[in-house]
Amino acid sequence: MPWRSLLVLTVLAAPWFTPVAPARADDDGLAALVQVLQQIDDDGVRRDLLIGMREGLKGRKDVPLPDGWTKIYPTLAKSANAQVRDYARALAITFDDPTAIAEVRAVALAKTASATERNAALQMLVDKRLADFAPTLQTLLDDPVVQRTALRGLAAYDDPHSAKMILERYPRLDSDARQDALTTLATRKQSATELVAAVEQNIIPRRDLSAFLVRQLHALKDEDLSRRLRAAWGDIRETPQDKQAKIAKYTQLLNGDVLAQGNAAAGRAIFERTCKQCHTLYGEGAKIGPDLTGSNRANLEYVLTNVIDPSAAIAREYKMNIIITADGRVLTGMIVEKTGDRITLQTVNERIVLVEDDIEDLQESPVSMMPEGQIDALTPEQVRDLVAYLATKQQVELEGTK
Ligand code: HEC
Repeated sequence: MPWRSLLVLTVLAAPWFTPVAPARADDDGLAALVQVLQQIDDDGVRRDLLIGMREGLKGRKDVPLPDGWTKIYPTLAKSANAQVRDYARALAITFDDPTAIAEVRAVALAKTASATERNAALQMLVDKRLADFAPTLQTLLDDPVVQRTALRGLAAYDDPHSAKMILERYPRLDSDARQDALTTLATRKQSATELVAAVEQNIIPRRDLSAFLVRQLHALKDEDLSRRLRAAWGDIRETPQDKQAKIAKYTQLLNGDVLAQGNAAAGRAIFERTCKQCHTLYGEGAKIGPDLTGSNRANLEYVLTNVIDPSAAIAREYKMNIIITADGRVLTGMIVEKTGDRITLQTVNERIVLVEDDIEDLQESPVSMMPEGQIDALTPEQVRDLVAYLATKQQVELEGTK
Protein backbone atom coordinates (compact mmCIF):
# COMPACT_ATOMS: atom_id res chain seq x y z
CA MET A 1 0.00 0.00 0.00
CA PRO A 2 1.90 3.08 -1.21
CA TRP A 3 0.26 5.61 1.07
CA ARG A 4 1.30 3.59 4.04
CA SER A 5 4.96 4.18 3.23
CA LEU A 6 4.11 7.81 2.68
CA LEU A 7 2.69 8.00 6.17
CA VAL A 8 5.75 6.39 7.68
CA LEU A 9 7.87 8.91 5.83
CA THR A 10 5.75 11.65 7.33
CA VAL A 11 6.41 10.24 10.78
CA LEU A 12 10.12 10.08 10.16
CA ALA A 13 10.16 13.62 8.86
CA ALA A 14 7.97 15.01 11.65
CA PRO A 15 9.75 17.78 13.58
CA TRP A 16 9.45 16.02 16.94
CA PHE A 17 11.24 13.02 15.49
CA THR A 18 14.47 14.96 15.23
CA PRO A 19 15.86 14.47 18.71
CA VAL A 20 17.41 17.94 18.78
CA ALA A 21 14.05 19.64 18.24
CA PRO A 22 12.92 21.71 21.23
CA ALA A 23 10.47 20.03 23.61
CA ARG A 24 7.56 22.24 22.59
CA ALA A 25 7.74 21.30 18.93
CA ASP A 26 8.01 17.63 20.02
CA ASP A 27 4.73 17.70 21.80
CA ASP A 28 2.86 19.51 19.04
CA GLY A 29 4.11 16.99 16.51
CA LEU A 30 3.06 14.11 18.71
CA ALA A 31 -0.47 15.47 19.12
CA ALA A 32 -0.70 15.78 15.34
CA LEU A 33 0.28 12.14 14.94
CA VAL A 34 -2.27 11.07 17.54
CA GLN A 35 -4.84 12.93 15.48
CA VAL A 36 -3.82 11.00 12.37
CA LEU A 37 -4.14 7.79 14.38
CA GLN A 38 -7.71 8.68 15.27
CA GLN A 39 -8.64 8.99 11.61
CA ILE A 40 -7.27 5.61 10.56
CA ASP A 41 -8.82 2.22 11.02
CA ASP A 42 -6.31 0.13 9.09
CA ASP A 43 -4.28 -1.92 11.61
CA GLY A 44 -1.25 -2.13 9.32
CA VAL A 45 -1.01 1.64 9.05
CA ARG A 46 -1.68 2.08 12.73
CA ARG A 47 1.12 -0.31 13.51
CA ASP A 48 3.58 1.55 11.28
CA LEU A 49 2.66 4.86 12.84
CA LEU A 50 3.03 3.45 16.35
CA ILE A 51 6.42 1.99 15.46
CA GLY A 52 7.55 5.36 14.13
CA MET A 53 6.35 7.14 17.26
CA ARG A 54 8.10 4.64 19.50
CA GLU A 55 11.35 4.89 17.59
CA GLY A 56 11.26 8.65 17.91
CA LEU A 57 10.74 8.52 21.65
CA LYS A 58 13.23 5.80 22.57
CA GLY A 59 15.27 6.69 25.61
CA ARG A 60 12.94 9.52 26.65
CA LYS A 61 11.29 8.90 29.97
CA ASP A 62 8.98 11.79 30.71
CA VAL A 63 6.89 12.59 27.70
CA PRO A 64 3.67 14.45 28.50
CA LEU A 65 0.44 12.73 27.51
CA PRO A 66 -0.36 14.10 24.04
CA ASP A 67 -3.83 15.53 23.40
CA GLY A 68 -6.29 12.92 22.21
CA TRP A 69 -4.26 9.92 23.41
CA THR A 70 -6.63 8.88 26.19
CA LYS A 71 -9.45 8.87 23.65
CA ILE A 72 -7.65 6.64 21.13
CA TYR A 73 -5.80 4.31 23.52
CA PRO A 74 -8.76 2.10 24.55
CA THR A 75 -9.46 1.40 20.86
CA LEU A 76 -5.82 0.56 20.15
CA ALA A 77 -5.62 -1.63 23.26
CA LYS A 78 -8.52 -3.70 21.96
CA SER A 79 -7.19 -4.03 18.38
CA ALA A 80 -7.30 -7.49 16.82
CA ASN A 81 -3.66 -6.99 15.83
CA ALA A 82 -1.29 -8.05 18.63
CA GLN A 83 1.46 -5.71 17.43
CA VAL A 84 -0.87 -2.72 17.54
CA ARG A 85 -1.80 -3.66 21.11
CA ASP A 86 1.83 -4.14 22.17
CA TYR A 87 3.16 -0.94 20.60
CA ALA A 88 0.22 1.11 21.86
CA ARG A 89 0.77 -0.19 25.36
CA ALA A 90 4.49 0.56 25.23
CA LEU A 91 3.74 4.11 24.09
CA ALA A 92 1.08 4.54 26.76
CA ILE A 93 3.72 3.61 29.33
CA THR A 94 6.04 6.28 27.95
CA PHE A 95 3.20 8.79 28.32
CA ASP A 96 2.59 7.75 31.93
CA ASP A 97 -0.93 6.61 31.11
CA PRO A 98 -2.01 5.19 34.51
CA THR A 99 -4.36 2.56 33.03
CA ALA A 100 -1.58 1.10 30.91
CA ILE A 101 0.92 1.14 33.76
CA ALA A 102 -1.49 -0.81 35.95
CA GLU A 103 -2.06 -3.33 33.14
CA VAL A 104 1.64 -3.89 32.52
CA ARG A 105 2.38 -4.15 36.22
CA ALA A 106 -0.30 -6.83 36.56
CA VAL A 107 1.26 -8.83 33.71
CA ALA A 108 4.74 -8.54 35.25
CA LEU A 109 3.47 -9.97 38.52
CA ALA A 110 1.01 -12.54 37.12
CA LYS A 111 2.23 -16.07 37.75
CA THR A 112 -0.13 -17.22 34.99
CA ALA A 113 1.42 -15.09 32.22
CA SER A 114 4.20 -16.56 30.06
CA ALA A 115 7.85 -15.98 30.94
CA THR A 116 8.36 -13.88 27.80
CA GLU A 117 5.39 -11.63 28.58
CA ARG A 118 6.34 -11.20 32.20
CA ASN A 119 9.95 -10.32 31.42
CA ALA A 120 8.94 -7.89 28.68
CA ALA A 121 6.43 -6.19 30.97
CA LEU A 122 8.95 -5.89 33.76
CA GLN A 123 11.60 -4.51 31.43
CA MET A 124 9.14 -1.92 30.17
CA LEU A 125 8.52 -0.63 33.69
CA VAL A 126 12.23 -0.53 34.45
CA ASP A 127 12.98 1.33 31.21
CA LYS A 128 10.29 3.75 32.25
CA ARG A 129 11.99 4.11 35.65
CA LEU A 130 8.62 3.64 37.30
CA ALA A 131 8.78 5.46 40.63
CA ASP A 132 9.00 3.44 43.88
CA PHE A 133 9.49 0.24 41.92
CA ALA A 134 12.65 -1.01 43.66
CA PRO A 135 10.78 -2.83 46.49
CA THR A 136 8.72 -4.75 43.90
CA LEU A 137 11.87 -5.70 41.98
CA GLN A 138 13.41 -6.85 45.25
CA THR A 139 10.54 -9.24 45.96
CA LEU A 140 10.85 -10.59 42.40
CA LEU A 141 14.43 -11.69 43.14
CA ASP A 142 12.87 -14.87 44.53
CA ASP A 143 10.79 -15.50 41.43
CA PRO A 144 12.88 -17.70 39.09
CA VAL A 145 10.92 -16.66 35.98
CA VAL A 146 11.82 -12.97 36.21
CA GLN A 147 14.80 -13.13 38.56
CA ARG A 148 17.40 -12.03 36.01
CA THR A 149 15.32 -9.11 34.73
CA ALA A 150 14.78 -8.02 38.33
CA LEU A 151 18.50 -8.28 39.09
CA ARG A 152 19.39 -6.13 36.08
CA GLY A 153 16.52 -3.74 36.71
CA LEU A 154 17.66 -2.96 40.24
CA ALA A 155 20.74 -1.29 38.74
CA ALA A 156 18.45 1.50 37.54
CA TYR A 157 17.33 2.32 41.07
CA ASP A 158 19.49 3.82 43.74
CA ASP A 159 17.89 1.91 46.60
CA PRO A 160 20.00 1.32 49.74
CA HIS A 161 18.43 -2.10 50.45
CA SER A 162 19.10 -3.74 47.09
CA ALA A 163 22.75 -4.67 47.60
CA LYS A 164 22.10 -6.58 50.81
CA MET A 165 19.17 -8.46 49.29
CA ILE A 166 21.17 -9.43 46.21
CA LEU A 167 24.16 -10.53 48.28
CA GLU A 168 22.01 -12.71 50.53
CA ARG A 169 20.81 -14.62 47.48
CA TYR A 170 24.13 -14.70 45.67
CA PRO A 171 25.29 -18.19 46.75
CA ARG A 172 22.10 -19.71 45.34
CA LEU A 173 22.17 -17.95 41.95
CA ASP A 174 23.22 -19.78 38.79
CA SER A 175 26.19 -18.48 36.82
CA ASP A 176 24.21 -16.21 34.46
CA ALA A 177 22.26 -14.65 37.31
CA ARG A 178 25.53 -14.17 39.21
CA GLN A 179 26.88 -12.11 36.32
CA ASP A 180 23.74 -9.96 36.41
CA ALA A 181 24.05 -9.58 40.17
CA LEU A 182 27.70 -8.54 39.96
CA THR A 183 27.09 -6.09 37.13
CA THR A 184 24.27 -4.44 39.07
CA LEU A 185 26.29 -4.25 42.28
CA ALA A 186 29.24 -2.72 40.43
CA THR A 187 27.29 0.19 39.01
CA ARG A 188 27.10 2.42 42.10
CA LYS A 189 29.54 3.33 44.83
CA GLN A 190 27.43 2.19 47.74
CA SER A 191 26.56 -1.23 46.34
CA ALA A 192 30.08 -1.65 44.95
CA THR A 193 31.45 -1.12 48.45
CA GLU A 194 29.18 -3.88 49.74
CA LEU A 195 30.30 -6.07 46.85
CA VAL A 196 33.97 -5.60 47.71
CA ALA A 197 33.21 -6.33 51.36
CA ALA A 198 31.55 -9.59 50.28
CA VAL A 199 34.68 -10.53 48.32
CA GLU A 200 36.81 -9.71 51.38
CA GLN A 201 34.63 -12.03 53.45
CA ASN A 202 34.67 -14.78 50.80
CA ILE A 203 30.90 -14.61 50.39
CA ILE A 204 31.65 -13.95 46.74
CA PRO A 205 34.52 -16.08 45.43
CA ARG A 206 37.31 -13.88 44.12
CA ARG A 207 37.32 -15.75 40.80
CA ASP A 208 33.71 -14.71 40.11
CA LEU A 209 34.94 -11.17 39.44
CA SER A 210 36.18 -10.86 35.86
CA ALA A 211 38.94 -8.43 35.01
CA PHE A 212 36.30 -6.54 33.11
CA LEU A 213 34.16 -6.06 36.19
CA VAL A 214 37.16 -5.08 38.28
CA ARG A 215 37.95 -2.40 35.75
CA GLN A 216 34.43 -1.10 36.06
CA LEU A 217 34.83 -0.95 39.84
CA HIS A 218 38.02 1.09 39.48
CA ALA A 219 36.10 3.40 37.13
CA LEU A 220 33.95 4.47 40.09
CA LYS A 221 37.05 6.47 41.11
CA ASP A 222 36.74 5.84 44.83
CA GLU A 223 40.26 5.58 46.24
CA ASP A 224 39.32 3.60 49.30
CA LEU A 225 37.30 1.13 47.24
CA SER A 226 40.11 0.69 44.70
CA ARG A 227 42.62 0.07 47.47
CA ARG A 228 40.46 -2.59 49.12
CA LEU A 229 39.80 -4.16 45.74
CA ARG A 230 43.50 -4.39 44.95
CA ALA A 231 44.06 -6.10 48.30
CA ALA A 232 41.19 -8.57 47.90
CA TRP A 233 41.39 -9.28 44.19
CA GLY A 234 44.85 -8.23 43.01
CA ASP A 235 45.99 -5.97 40.25
CA ILE A 236 44.66 -6.27 36.75
CA ARG A 237 47.62 -4.67 35.17
CA GLU A 238 49.58 -7.45 33.54
CA THR A 239 52.51 -6.12 31.57
CA PRO A 240 52.86 -6.94 27.89
CA GLN A 241 55.82 -9.11 28.90
CA ASP A 242 53.65 -11.09 31.34
CA LYS A 243 51.22 -11.76 28.54
CA GLN A 244 53.90 -12.75 26.06
CA ALA A 245 55.30 -15.16 28.65
CA LYS A 246 51.86 -16.63 29.18
CA ILE A 247 51.28 -17.06 25.45
CA ALA A 248 54.65 -18.79 25.16
CA LYS A 249 53.85 -21.05 28.11
CA TYR A 250 50.56 -22.24 26.62
CA THR A 251 52.04 -22.62 23.13
CA GLN A 252 54.57 -25.03 24.58
CA LEU A 253 52.04 -26.78 26.79
CA LEU A 254 49.57 -27.35 24.00
CA ASN A 255 51.79 -29.24 21.58
CA GLY A 256 50.38 -31.59 18.97
CA ASP A 257 50.37 -34.65 21.25
CA VAL A 258 48.52 -32.83 24.00
CA LEU A 259 45.98 -31.33 21.61
CA ALA A 260 45.31 -34.75 20.13
CA GLN A 261 43.89 -35.74 23.52
CA GLY A 262 41.60 -32.72 23.63
CA ASN A 263 37.94 -33.39 24.38
CA ALA A 264 35.93 -31.11 22.11
CA ALA A 265 32.63 -31.98 23.82
CA ALA A 266 34.04 -30.85 27.16
CA GLY A 267 35.47 -27.80 25.38
CA ARG A 268 32.03 -26.88 24.13
CA ALA A 269 30.76 -26.86 27.70
CA ILE A 270 33.56 -24.43 28.65
CA PHE A 271 32.77 -22.25 25.65
CA GLU A 272 29.11 -22.12 26.65
CA ARG A 273 30.06 -21.09 30.17
CA THR A 274 32.69 -18.48 29.39
CA CYS A 275 32.50 -17.28 25.79
CA LYS A 276 28.97 -17.74 24.48
CA GLN A 277 27.60 -14.74 26.36
CA CYS A 278 29.51 -12.63 23.79
CA HIS A 279 30.38 -14.84 20.82
CA THR A 280 28.46 -16.85 18.27
CA LEU A 281 29.85 -20.15 17.03
CA TYR A 282 27.93 -22.42 14.66
CA GLY A 283 24.94 -20.09 14.76
CA GLU A 284 24.53 -20.12 18.53
CA GLY A 285 25.47 -17.45 21.06
CA ALA A 286 25.48 -13.68 21.45
CA LYS A 287 26.90 -11.05 19.12
CA ILE A 288 28.71 -8.70 21.48
CA GLY A 289 32.03 -9.85 20.02
CA PRO A 290 32.70 -11.08 16.48
CA ASP A 291 31.10 -14.31 15.22
CA LEU A 292 33.88 -16.86 15.60
CA THR A 293 32.54 -19.39 13.09
CA GLY A 294 34.50 -18.05 10.13
CA SER A 295 37.53 -16.90 12.11
CA ASN A 296 41.00 -18.35 12.19
CA ARG A 297 40.06 -20.28 15.33
CA ALA A 298 41.87 -23.53 14.42
CA ASN A 299 45.14 -21.60 14.70
CA LEU A 300 46.57 -21.92 18.22
CA GLU A 301 48.51 -18.67 18.07
CA TYR A 302 45.44 -16.71 17.00
CA VAL A 303 43.33 -18.15 19.81
CA LEU A 304 45.96 -17.67 22.51
CA THR A 305 46.81 -14.10 21.49
CA ASN A 306 43.18 -13.06 21.45
CA VAL A 307 42.25 -14.77 24.69
CA ILE A 308 45.34 -13.78 26.66
CA ASP A 309 45.84 -10.28 25.26
CA PRO A 310 42.46 -9.13 23.93
CA SER A 311 43.33 -5.46 24.10
CA ALA A 312 46.39 -5.77 21.90
CA ALA A 313 44.31 -5.07 18.80
CA ILE A 314 40.71 -3.97 18.98
CA ALA A 315 38.63 -2.96 16.02
CA ARG A 316 37.08 0.49 16.45
CA GLU A 317 33.53 -0.76 16.78
CA TYR A 318 34.55 -2.91 19.74
CA LYS A 319 36.12 -0.12 21.80
CA MET A 320 34.75 0.00 25.29
CA ASN A 321 33.22 3.17 26.69
CA ILE A 322 32.78 4.17 30.28
CA ILE A 323 29.70 6.28 30.93
CA ILE A 324 28.73 7.99 34.15
CA THR A 325 25.01 8.68 34.16
CA ALA A 326 23.34 11.73 35.64
CA ASP A 327 21.82 9.51 38.32
CA GLY A 328 25.21 8.21 39.40
CA ARG A 329 25.54 4.88 37.61
CA VAL A 330 28.73 3.73 35.94
CA LEU A 331 28.11 1.78 32.76
CA THR A 332 30.69 0.10 30.57
CA GLY A 333 29.99 -1.16 27.10
CA MET A 334 30.20 -0.61 23.39
CA ILE A 335 28.24 2.08 21.61
CA VAL A 336 26.32 0.15 18.99
CA GLU A 337 24.13 2.95 17.70
CA LYS A 338 24.22 6.73 17.68
CA THR A 339 21.35 8.85 16.38
CA GLY A 340 20.91 12.51 17.21
CA ASP A 341 21.30 12.90 20.96
CA ARG A 342 20.62 9.23 21.63
CA ILE A 343 23.11 6.42 22.02
CA THR A 344 22.58 2.71 22.46
CA LEU A 345 25.08 1.06 24.75
CA GLN A 346 25.65 -2.68 24.67
CA THR A 347 26.88 -3.77 28.10
CA VAL A 348 27.83 -7.36 28.89
CA ASN A 349 24.26 -8.18 29.80
CA GLU A 350 21.89 -5.62 28.28
CA ARG A 351 21.26 -2.89 25.75
CA ILE A 352 20.61 0.53 27.22
CA VAL A 353 19.33 3.56 25.33
CA LEU A 354 20.52 6.86 26.78
CA VAL A 355 19.79 10.43 25.81
CA GLU A 356 22.25 13.28 26.23
CA ASP A 357 20.63 14.46 29.47
CA ASP A 358 21.21 11.04 31.04
CA ILE A 359 24.96 11.24 30.49
CA GLU A 360 27.27 13.11 32.77
CA ASP A 361 30.54 11.80 31.41
CA LEU A 362 31.59 9.57 28.53
CA GLN A 363 35.09 8.25 28.03
CA GLU A 364 36.53 5.81 25.55
CA SER A 365 38.63 3.18 27.20
CA PRO A 366 41.64 1.62 25.47
CA VAL A 367 40.69 -1.86 26.60
CA SER A 368 38.53 -4.49 24.96
CA MET A 369 35.14 -5.62 26.22
CA MET A 370 36.68 -9.05 26.02
CA PRO A 371 37.91 -9.76 29.53
CA GLU A 372 41.53 -10.57 30.25
CA GLY A 373 42.51 -13.38 32.52
CA GLN A 374 39.77 -15.79 31.42
CA ILE A 375 42.38 -18.45 30.84
CA ASP A 376 43.65 -18.14 34.42
CA ALA A 377 40.34 -19.49 35.69
CA LEU A 378 40.80 -22.70 33.68
CA THR A 379 42.94 -25.78 34.36
CA PRO A 380 45.47 -26.75 31.65
CA GLU A 381 43.14 -29.63 30.62
CA GLN A 382 40.24 -27.22 30.26
CA VAL A 383 42.33 -24.88 28.09
CA ARG A 384 43.28 -27.88 25.96
CA ASP A 385 39.63 -28.91 25.56
CA LEU A 386 38.51 -25.36 24.72
CA VAL A 387 41.22 -25.05 22.07
CA ALA A 388 40.19 -28.45 20.67
CA TYR A 389 36.59 -27.31 20.47
CA LEU A 390 37.50 -24.05 18.75
CA ALA A 391 39.43 -26.05 16.16
CA THR A 392 36.44 -28.22 15.20
CA LYS A 393 34.94 -27.90 11.72
CA GLN A 394 31.39 -28.57 12.81
CA GLN A 395 29.32 -28.49 15.98
CA VAL A 396 29.95 -31.33 18.42
CA GLU A 397 27.61 -32.93 20.93
CA LEU A 398 27.69 -31.13 24.26
CA GLU A 399 29.39 -33.18 26.97
CA GLY A 400 26.89 -35.03 29.11
CA THR A 401 23.92 -34.70 26.74
CA LYS A 402 24.44 -38.04 25.03
C1 HEC B 1 32.33 -9.83 27.56
C2 HEC B 1 32.31 -10.27 26.21
C3 HEC B 1 33.31 -11.32 25.74
C4 HEC B 1 33.59 -12.55 26.29
C5 HEC B 1 33.02 -13.19 27.56
C6 HEC B 1 34.55 -13.19 25.41
N1 HEC B 1 34.84 -12.34 24.36
FE1 HEC B 1 36.10 -12.72 22.81
N2 HEC B 1 35.80 -10.83 22.11
C7 HEC B 1 34.92 -9.92 22.61
C8 HEC B 1 35.01 -8.70 21.81
C9 HEC B 1 34.19 -7.43 22.04
C10 HEC B 1 35.96 -8.94 20.82
C11 HEC B 1 36.40 -7.96 19.73
C12 HEC B 1 37.37 -6.94 20.24
C13 HEC B 1 38.72 -7.49 20.52
O1 HEC B 1 39.32 -8.09 19.60
O2 HEC B 1 39.18 -7.34 21.64
C14 HEC B 1 36.44 -10.29 21.03
C15 HEC B 1 37.39 -10.91 20.22
C16 HEC B 1 37.71 -12.26 20.28
C17 HEC B 1 38.53 -12.96 19.31
C18 HEC B 1 39.12 -12.31 18.07
C19 HEC B 1 38.05 -12.28 17.02
C20 HEC B 1 38.44 -11.55 15.76
O3 HEC B 1 38.51 -12.22 14.74
O4 HEC B 1 38.69 -10.34 15.85
C21 HEC B 1 38.61 -14.26 19.70
C22 HEC B 1 39.33 -15.40 18.99
C23 HEC B 1 37.84 -14.38 20.92
N3 HEC B 1 37.31 -13.15 21.24
C24 HEC B 1 37.69 -15.56 21.63
C25 HEC B 1 37.01 -15.66 22.85
C26 HEC B 1 36.95 -16.87 23.64
C27 HEC B 1 37.58 -18.21 23.26
C28 HEC B 1 36.24 -16.56 24.76
C29 HEC B 1 35.93 -17.46 25.95
C30 HEC B 1 37.10 -17.98 26.65
C31 HEC B 1 35.82 -15.15 24.66
N4 HEC B 1 36.33 -14.65 23.48
C32 HEC B 1 35.06 -14.47 25.59
C33 HEC B 1 34.10 -10.08 23.70
C34 HEC B 1 34.11 -11.19 24.54
